[in-house]
Amino acid sequence: MKFFLDTANINEIREANSWGILDGVTTNPTHISKEGRKFRDLVEEICSIVQGPVSVEVVSTESEAMIKEAREIAKIANNIVVKIPFTVEGVKAVKVLHREGIKTNITLVFSPSQALIAGKIGANYVSPFVGRLDNISEEGIELVRKIKVMYSNYNFKTEIIVAAVRNPLHVINSALIGADIVTMRFEILKMLFEHPLTDIGLQQFLEDWKKVPK
Ligand code: E4P
Repeated sequence: MKFFLDTANINEIREANSWGILDGVTTNPTHISKEGRKFRDLVEEICSIVQGPVSVEVVSTESEAMIKEAREIAKIANNIVVKIPFTVEGVKAVKVLHREGIKTNITLVFSPSQALIAGKIGANYVSPFVGRLDNISEEGIELVRKIKVMYSNYNFKTEIIVAAVRNPLHVINSALIGADIVTMRFEILKMLFEHPLTDIGLQQFLEDWKKVPK
C-alpha cells in the first residue's frame, strides 16, 4: 500500500520524504491556504521534492473552466495529478482530461455510486473521505470496502486513495481491505511508527549494553 501525505507543508513533506516511505502528496485548497505562499511557487516546490504523484485541486465549478484550469495546473510538473470534485461538471471535465492524458483524482467522494462513476469514466484516482463520514455516524471504512469490491468486479484501474484519515486504525483497515493508497496528515504518519513497548525495549537494551565489559 502506498503512503501519501495530505498536506502542502514543505517541512512535513521533506521530513516524511527523508524517511523513505513517502509515495506521493495530496493537497487541497485548504492545505494550500495555510501556507501563505504563492500557489504556483508552492506547488512547484512540492513537486520537486516528491517523486510520486502530487494532487492539486481545481477551484472552478463549471466543466469548461475546470478543464482550462486543469490544463494549466498539469503544466506545472510531470508528477501533477489534477483533483476534481465529484459533481456532474467534474465528471464531464474528467472525461475530457482523460482523453488528453491529464491524470485526475476525483475528490469529495462519499457514496458507492459516486465511486462507481469515477471508476467507469477512467479517473486515475478516487478519494473517499472516510473520517468525514465517521463524523456523521456513517462507517467511512465500509465505503472503501464497497469500492474495492466494485472495482474488482469490473477490473477498473482507478486507484483508491483513502482520504480524511483520522487515526492509524483507518490506515490498517484500508490495508486489510486492499486499498491502493492512504493519504494522511503528518501526525498520523508519525503515529504509525510508535509503540511504547518498542521504546521500553530499546531503553532496556541500551541500559544492559552499558553493563557489557568493553
Ligand atoms: C484528500 O485528498 C483531502 O485533502 C483530505 O483528506 C481532506 O480531509 P480532511 O480535511 O477531512 O482531513
